Amino acid sequence: MTQSFKKLRGLTGMHDVLPDQSAQWEQLEEIVRDWLASYGYRNMRTPILEHTQLFARGIGEVTDIVEKEMYSFTDSLNGDKLTMRPEFTAGIVRSAIEHNLLYERPQRIYSIGPVFRHERPQRGRYRQFHQIDVEALGFPGPDVDAEMIVMLDRLWQRLGLTDVRLEINSLGQSHERAAHREALIAYLEQHQDILDDDAKRRMYTNPLRVLDTKNPDLQEMADAAPRLFEFLGEESLAHYEGVCQRLDAMGIEYTLNPRMVRGLDYYNLTVFEWITDRLGAQGTVCGGGRYDGLFELLGGKSTPGIGFAIGMERLLELVQQQDILPNTAECDIYMVYQNDAGQQQAMVLAEQLRDAGLRVVVHAGPKSMRAQFRRADNSGALAAIILGQSELETQQASVKWLRAPALNDEQPQQEQVDFAQCAQFLKSRIGD
Ligand code: HAM
Repeated sequence: MTQSFKKLRGLTGMHDVLPDQSAQWEQLEEIVRDWLASYGYRNMRTPILEHTQLFARGIGEVTDIVEKEMYSFTDSLNGDKLTMRPEFTAGIVRSAIEHNLLYERPQRIYSIGPVFRHERPQRGRYRQFHQIDVEALGFPGPDVDAEMIVMLDRLWQRLGLTDVRLEINSLGQSHERAAHREALIAYLEQHQDILDDDAKRRMYTNPLRVLDTKNPDLQEMADAAPRLFEFLGEESLAHYEGVCQRLDAMGIEYTLNPRMVRGLDYYNLTVFEWITDRLGAQGTVCGGGRYDGLFELLGGKSTPGIGFAIGMERLLELVQQQDILPNTAECDIYMVYQNDAGQQQAMVLAEQLRDAGLRVVVHAGPKSMRAQFRRADNSGALAAIILGQSELETQQASVKWLRAPALNDEQPQQEQVDFAQCAQFLKSRIGD
């Protein structure tokens, strides 16, 4: 009796990146890595799994992420409580402390990879998504704060994105937040009767979060609440102005959004978000800020830090709307042949072409010439190289141009080239 198996599907909110899309991811990543390198940022990689406590302490117990969005489980083999990273910053700071990374000098660091949040999936909001995470560790600012914002502006320019706007705020220092908190609790107490359960629960533990509410009935109350910005002292204001002056000098537009609180508790002073209207409800492409207390919170020495993360899927969607990333073909050259001797010659020639930097696929599969040409065309290759009997006898390959740039009205569609000259010839016609 044959058994039939039910088709399995991927998890809700987690997406496969198929080969056509993956080519675009890789191109975008390449641009991003070049951009980061041009500002002196170096890559580092931390594990996806960390102790749950790292995120609970780092991001804050009373945040949406820690309270309801983390993929956490107990390792049944040793009882460890683990969490799949919902962001990079806490792990990078943990690692910097553990390896004494800042012993000699401050560090500019980046990481790209998947992060996990158990949110309600919708356009632009996934449960596994990818971040380009960038951290400047050991710099008190405000110069580096401004540099980070400037570099993001440059990235948008490089990608041809025009509709991304910058909002900034200052969250001050802890004593200023404490004074604001008191005022805020007093204000919330006055509005007890309209608060929802979430707000009531957080009113004393994390009142600032109450202002971050998504409940439309609470918006008016949240809008009129005392603002942290009004509690900032001289030093915090000077830091904020230091950032603004540099942004002005660099011609970067921004708006102060005194209600911006960000979804993570480690921030102080500068916070910022880049927002677009082109992505529907999930319009924040990038968010970040300063976290001068995080090293200490995670058991390290007091060390300033600032960083941001770009949502890779959201950035990619924006870039796709501009249509500037070309679709990458499977290869430059597709090799077709008539018989086994031709196939073997193709393998030899293909290695020479690859050595010259070309991307080459040697046909495998159905043997008919028609089928082979169809595959050559579908591959997106610029040319097919044909190795029939006569080509083997003359030791000359037939090059059939399939696409521009070499396929044009001024040149023949098919040309003969000595095997030995093939790589050079193809490169001269195709360009680099
Ligand atoms: P975040 O604001 O939580 O910050 O996330 C950064 C970005 O990740 C967002 O602006 C958004 O583009 C993207 N993102 C967030 N959640 C989702 C989701 N469910 N689906 C798709 N994209 C999403 C942080 O994670 C901080 N660690 C940033 C940072 C680095 N601050 C300092 N250093």
